[in-house]
Amino acid sequence: MRDCHREIARWMQSLGVPARVDAAGNIRGVYPAVQPNAPRLIIGSHLDTVPNAGAYDGVLGVVLAIALLEELQGRRFCFGIEVVAFSEEEGVRFDTPFIGSRAMVGRLDNKLLEIRDAHGISVRKAIEEFGLNPEEIPQAELGNDTLGYLEFHIEQGPVLEKLNLPLAVVEAVAGQSRLEFTFLGRANHAGTTPMHLRCDAIAGAAEWIGTVEHVAQGIPGLVATVGKIEAKPGAVNVIAGEAWLSLDVRHSSDEIRTRAVVDLSRQAEEIAARRGLSVRENTLLSQRSVAMNAFLNDEIAQAILKTGCKPHRMASGAGHDAMIMAEKIPAAMIFLRTPGGISHDPAESVAVEDVEKAIECGLHLLDQLAASPEFQQRINRG
Ligand code: GLV
Ligand code: MN
Ligand code: MN
Repeated sequence: MRDCHREIARWMQSLGVPARVDAAGNIRGVYPAVQPNAPRLIIGSHLDTVPNAGAYDGVLGVVLAIALLEELQGRRFCFGIEVVAFSEEEGVRFDTPFIGSRAMVGRLDNKLLEIRDAHGISVRKAIEEFGLNPEEIPQAELGNDTLGYLEFHIEQGPVLEKLNLPLAVVEAVAGQSRLEFTFLGRANHAGTTPMHLRCDAIAGAAEWIGTVEHVAQGIPGLVATVGKIEAKPGAVNVIAGEAWLSLDVRHSSDEIRTRAVVDLSRQAEEIAARRGLSVRENTLLSQRSVAMNAFLNDEIAQAILKTGCKPHRMASGAGHDAMIMAEKIPAAMIFLRTPGGISHDPAESVAVEDVEKAIECGLHLLDQLAASPEFQQRINRG
């Protein structure tokens, strides 16, 4: 991350934009407006990624923001443009996503700072070890001088490819729940313990994983994933006394999502009870579904039209920093077609022509916003 910050700071610096890293590890730089102290539009995405990841989820949105500034060739607007490259969007290290963007909306609180990674290091400690000061997190928060947030991101799915379209307007980002479940049984000798006398935590967890898949298949639009599993003591010849699992549940309806989570947790308890196990659960995230800003959506649709493309409108099944920023400021997203719909995998890619269209669309959008009376009003209010 430090190398990444160094490189991004260098790119920004070459455009005359000084960069700084805030206390939550977001790297930020402001391209100035015509008038000093004018309010600004934030353009950004995240720098972190998943294990065995592709090269575009997140970072493409940061590179596109910087590319847009480069394309401006010094041209300035009545608003400034702040490029933000967020830290910890995916939630890999702490099983908790959006840490960087939550700091910007004032939600990186003590509870979140105390969450620990697999080595027992808390978010607070990780921030300190990176050389930042957690006491300065409040200074990372958005002021009232921010007009809105724009994020370019790969679609991470097959929709645009199927439609043969390079770009889309994101109308909403689906809500997501993340939980951890621990099945507790009794560790014992794998050779001497008869099958009917076992309390096997992995076997209970496995039955429940099948239930998760089955339940999700029966609810249109619901996706539920157990993506991570760890067993203790973790030896070939020992019955597992403990099995830890992650659960990720998403739906565009918050009601359907939360109902599914309640059902899956009840089923975990039933399975555990029937097998002489117990189960503990902990909710790490319950993020509601978020609509993107209607005014910005229409402006983006117009900008896509100006590139000669049809502006498809769609919802995002993946989570994004935009859904956090939307809590405080108008937020919007532009999707780029993802070849094969593959993401969170090294096969993830993007077409150069689509990136060109995205830059062209971004430039039209900035010009439109600069000329828009509604955006002017926001600037004057800011
Ligand atoms: C972020 O990639 C997510 O999990 O949706
Ligand atoms: Mn991702
Ligand atoms: Mn992403």
